[in-house]
Amino acid sequence: MTGLRIKPLDALLALKSDKRLRPALGPLDLVFLGIGGIVGTGIFVLTGVAAAEHSGPALIISFLMCGFACSLAALTYAELASMVPVAGSAYTYTYATMGEVMAWIMGWNLVLEYAVSAAAVASGWSGYFTGIFTTLGFPLPDMLTKVPQDGGFVNLPAVVIVLVVTGMLYIGLRESARFNNVLVVVKLAALALFIALATPAVDAQNWSPFMPNGFAGVASGAALVFFAFFGFDAVSTAAEETRNPNRDLPIGIIGSLVICTVIYMIVGIVLTGVAPAAELNNAEPVAYALRRIGYNFGSALVAVGAIAGMTTVLIVFIYGQTRIFFVMSRDGLLPEALSRLHPKYQTPHVVTLITGLGVALIGGFFKLGAIAELANIGTMFAFMLVAIGVMILRRAKPDAARPFRCPAVWVVGPLAILSIGFLMFSLPQLTWIRFVVWSAIGAAVYLAYGRHRSPLGKRSANA
Ligand code: ALA
Repeated sequence: MTGLRIKPLDALLALKSDKRLRPALGPLDLVFLGIGGIVGTGIFVLTGVAAAEHSGPALIISFLMCGFACSLAALTYAELASMVPVAGSAYTYTYATMGEVMAWIMGWNLVLEYAVSAAAVASGWSGYFTGIFTTLGFPLPDMLTKVPQDGGFVNLPAVVIVLVVTGMLYIGLRESARFNNVLVVVKLAALALFIALATPAVDAQNWSPFMPNGFAGVASGAALVFFAFFGFDAVSTAAEETRNPNRDLPIGIIGSLVICTVIYMIVGIVLTGVAPAAELNNAEPVAYALRRIGYNFGSALVAVGAIAGMTTVLIVFIYGQTRIFFVMSRDGLLPEALSRLHPKYQTPHVVTLITGLGVALIGGFFKLGAIAELANIGTMFAFMLVAIGVMILRRAKPDAARPFRCPAVWVVGPLAILSIGFLMFSLPQLTWIRFVVWSAIGAAVYLAYGRHRSPLGKRSANA
């Protein structure tokens, strides 16, 4: 197995103390971190597109499919997260199970899940933000709010919000986590308000035809709204900063996913019940549905909640990306400077700044739709690798301590792979092409840099 360069579990659990992060988070923080990562652009923006163009009122079935696939993936995630409670999430698990090459591929794809998603979310945030100015009668200039492909120059609100979040993370997690908790409450209140106001106005006629594009439409809708579901796994990137990871990581991951799936199902039924699905294809479907039934003020409140929701997603995703880069650097697969800690704040400040700038550039200059789809495929791939990893580890390390055991792993693991794989194949061909190109670039970078620099690589060169 040395050819695979597998990183020993013991080595992972006994990291040098000068590069360990400060433990500051408890179980409730983790559930909030999970919800902070899950409820965002997916439910507030992409749901409308999925209902209008793909699923119709059967959006609820698309949600069920994603909830089913992600629950299985969450169970496998929880087992590995509790077993390997160090920063780096799926990247670290892959290193411990399938070796350095697969770990690099995983890390490279997590950039799609975290940094590219964050850019998509910043772009959605900007849409709601500029929408509020338009509603107030002070529209912002297109040049400064649209990407070049849409006739503007730069999406400045997207750039600014990313830089603000980056500044907060630079100063320290503790403060960011508190801020995150407040914003999570605000966005859940916004969804609760929507449900309370819209439910009495539901007209069952809107639910017919239930599947305007047949089952294929429901499947492609599910592949799109998958974006609304991931984020629970970001909890695991906080493993090293959790006070009692063995107990709290599974609580954070599974708890946040279950809560969000239930909320989505209710929002999906009500949303397609108050407006014909075809009308929901706009930048703010949830707020639109309320305006349509006469609640202008309620609609504005929900819009503010949506902005809060997307802000928490940004915090969680930029945070997650910095921690993954941090661990890859600590492993030698990326330059050492990236894992330096700030002398005062004890945060990985160098990698935080670089990540923030990268996300700001993507969000400022690229279109939302394309980047969201690319994020989905990278995330689906990562989930499948984790499910494979948990099964490999059950065989390779049957006696290792597993504070959380995935129930019926030989059923759950293969079903997770099949259900996520089904969603992956429901994505458009262009997304697949982009995914293959991105992976090829990653392979080239690994061969040119990481392969020679990693401590495991140096050890095998000296042997
Ligand atoms: N699940 C996150 C969202 O919906 C990515 O914004």
